[in-house]
Amino acid sequence: MARAQTPVAARTRQGIKLSNGNNKSRVDLKAIVWRTLSIVILASLVNYVTSWRYKQKKAAYEAHAGTHANTADAVHDWTRGLPKNCVLVDWKSLGVRNAQDPWKNATEIFTPGHTFSHAEPVFQIFDRGFLDILGDAPSIQLIAENNAYMFAHEAPIWYPPTDEVFMCSNAGHPPSSLERTNVLSKLSLQEAAAKGTATVTEIQPIPTLEMTNGGTLFMDKLLFVNSGRGSTFPPTLALVEPLPPYNSTVILDNYFGMQFNSLNDAKVHPVSKAIFFTDPTYGDVGNFRPPPQLPRQVYRFDAETGEIRVVADGFSMPNGPAFSPDGRTAYLADSGSAWKGGYDSTRPQTIYAFDVDSDLRAQTWLNRRVFAYVDTGIPDGLVLDTKGNLYAATGDGVHVFSPRGILLGKIFIGSTSANIAFAGKGRLVVLAETKVFLVKFAAEGMSLDFWGMSRAS
Ligand SMILES: *[C@@H]1O[C@H](CO)[C@@H](O)[C@H](O)[C@H]1NC(C)=O
Ligand SMILES: *[C@@H]1O[C@H](CO)[C@@H](O)[C@H](O)[C@H]1NC(C)=O
Repeated sequence: MARAQTPVAARTRQGIKLSNGNNKSRVDLKAIVWRTLSIVILASLVNYVTSWRYKQKKAAYEAHAGTHANTADAVHDWTRGLPKNCVLVDWKSLGVRNAQDPWKNATEIFTPGHTFSHAEPVFQIFDRGFLDILGDAPSIQLIAENNAYMFAHEAPIWYPPTDEVFMCSNAGHPPSSLERTNVLSKLSLQEAAAKGTATVTEIQPIPTLEMTNGGTLFMDKLLFVNSGRGSTFPPTLALVEPLPPYNSTVILDNYFGMQFNSLNDAKVHPVSKAIFFTDPTYGDVGNFRPPPQLPRQVYRFDAETGEIRVVADGFSMPNGPAFSPDGRTAYLADSGSAWKGGYDSTRPQTIYAFDVDSDLRAQTWLNRRVFAYVDTGIPDGLVLDTKGNLYAATGDGVHVFSPRGILLGKIFIGSTSANIAFAGKGRLVVLAETKVFLVKFAAEGMSLDFWGMSRAS
């Protein structure tokens, strides 16, 4: 009772009133003190961690920003010893045009930091992070060229066991027409390694392929996405054997009985193995398909069960799809500025990112957001490396973005590339209509381990 006379007891009495229980009062007080103490301690801990993390991020940002500062020292620091075929593009020098420089017109190519000569493709470095991708001795090698027709347009598929790359010519352009499908060919990267250039071998028309425009590996086969020709030959997905006689099987040619518009490109989800493909209306634009009947959207097809569903819509021209290495993020190039056979630069030439619904059967594309808007031409084929960096085929070559959509650099070839394909570690094949380039650098394409593929030695 003596303790009841202390100030603590006075507060305890208030406690009594509040709690209506004599015995509980001291316990309550203790609990309140402890609770308050732990809240204070927890709050300061959270505050400490948050401010520590903020300081870390700020330091990282400042270190990064420093690389772009227009002070000779900051830039010189990491650009010292850049390989000859690399050009540093200093963002800060781009902010205001020099009085004598002409404005760039939407269809032209922008070459900051250098004047472009077709003889010399270059790596344009916009961010120090690009150096990790390039490594010590990056190169861009012209391995095949044929100015007679656009043989190297789309559907690049690297087949590891033979180290060959398949590709198709530009559908709707000669020699293809409403009367004739486009040309499928292949080249050998081993030949390119041995001789510096590779022979392009045309493959005899494969009966099920009509106006091929996209391709990717599916198990141990080539999956070709075909735009279709006229109304007699509908758009299809077809599997083709990678070796002669290249026999094939159509695995999809309709949506609930309807023909697709003109299927364009596909990627396989790294976890579910479902096929995701896009259906813009370029067949109509190119006068080799009837007017479209379906929206321009993205589909998911399970080749095992046959189930098909739409996972995203609302695009101008849905083009190249891609997934992050973990399959949780989807990307889509909207090439809407290539519009009605011409070019409307006010329409999207934008890469969007989505979260992929974690339900492996649904896999709806959620939370659409802008990933990047490309400055030249349209974004077309997209591929990712093992670190989640994204490579987009565009109007002046390949644009390389960090997983957050920051432009790290360009593999600048000065003309359009419609699609690209990694050929394992350190090699990227760039299709450029009448040319094929082989880029050698430090990056590695998303693993094909899920198909159990290994490269010919
Ligand atoms: C842009 O440049 C192209 C080729 O030089 C030209 O045909 C076109 O008229 C120009 N457009 C504008 C808006 O200046
Ligand atoms: C090609 O033919 C072989 C032998 O008939 C068959 O096992 C294989 O599945 C065929 N491949 C395709 C893609 O149709």
